Amino acid sequence: MENKVLHYSVMPQEVLELLRPAAELKSSLMIDCTLGEGGHSELFLKTFPELQLVGLDRDNEILERTRYRLAPFNNRVTIINTWFDDFFTKPDMYELSGQPTCILFDLGISIFHYEASGRGFSFNKDEPLDMRLNNEEGITAEFVVNTYGKDQLADVIYQYGEERYSRRISAAICKRRGTKAVQTSADLADIIKGAVPRDYRYGRIHPATRTFQALRIEVNGELNRIEQTLDRAIELLKPGGRIAVISFHSLEDRIVKQTFKRLAKGCVCPPEAPRCVCDGVAAVKLLHKKPFRASEEEITVNPASRSAKLRGVEKL
Ligand SMILES: C[S@@+](CC[C@H](N)C(=O)[O-])C[C@H]1O[C@@H](n2cnc3c(N)ncnc32)[C@H](O)[C@@H]1O
Repeated sequence: MENKVLHYSVMPQEVLELLRPAAELKSSLMIDCTLGEGGHSELFLKTFPELQLVGLDRDNEILERTRYRLAPFNNRVTIINTWFDDFFTKPDMYELSGQPTCILFDLGISIFHYEASGRGFSFNKDEPLDMRLNNEEGITAEFVVNTYGKDQLADVIYQYGEERYSRRISAAICKRRGTKAVQTSADLADIIKGAVPRDYRYGRIHPATRTFQALRIEVNGELNRIEQTLDRAIELLKPGGRIAVISFHSLEDRIVKQTFKRLAKGCVCPPEAPRCVCDGVAAVKLLHKKPFRASEEEITVNPASRSAKLRGVEKL
């Protein structure tokens, strides 16, 4: 199935340079944990002709598109429909050709999801409120907004969207669902617009941005999946191998930054301890102090890259 590629891969050259030393190692194997439309993977496969690649994604619809795109690389590519945290719990199930030398996470969702999935990810469209990456299992956004208690819903919107008007928005949703269930993305966007103050309604970002992000994170368990995965991914990586993570909001970036810092430190003794008694050994080396950010040129072409942060470490 041929499809126009919708997604712009973020910071492709920066990712390539960050992972290059590991991609050039002998018998290099890359795991692209968020394959999406395969933009980053295609770039690596073209640049490193010896590289083998395993691509993971939980969304079967997007994988249909990617299978077509990566078909020219035939037996160098294995595509697996799985959550990445499930993969790293049982990597033995997948008969990898060796220990991976490069691992990439490009977190979140793709432009395909906003523009073409029909699953209610965008507040600019009128679609059923689903928001599941894998639409065969789990709860939908419609379930969350119509069944969670008022405080529970406000907490989700506050914690995962960092939305300062979370209580007002939750109250407005609960009031409305008392008469009619909230079923579409346009419906929800209208309720949010009506619930927030005027200056916020016409502010820098669409007033529904943070609530939609929060619902998506809740529905797909996004933060828990990252938390459960990074340590395991580093364990699986070959020594000298590298891992790169692109995150799009502070909640994700905090998890990545803290995990890398902890693994680079090794010692877990309290700061007031006179000497180290834990014998902790650093597992990784940090490759840079500040995260990489997209250039102004990239942001002009792909505004979504504005919030992206790229961090990387090398396994010791
Ligand atoms: C930002 S897109 C990746 C884009 C890709 N790097 C490219 O260049 O085309 C993220 C992809 O990861 C998938 N995804 C997000 N979280 C996931 C998870 N926990 N497990 C598996 N796939 C996930 C989404 O379905 C989406 O297709």
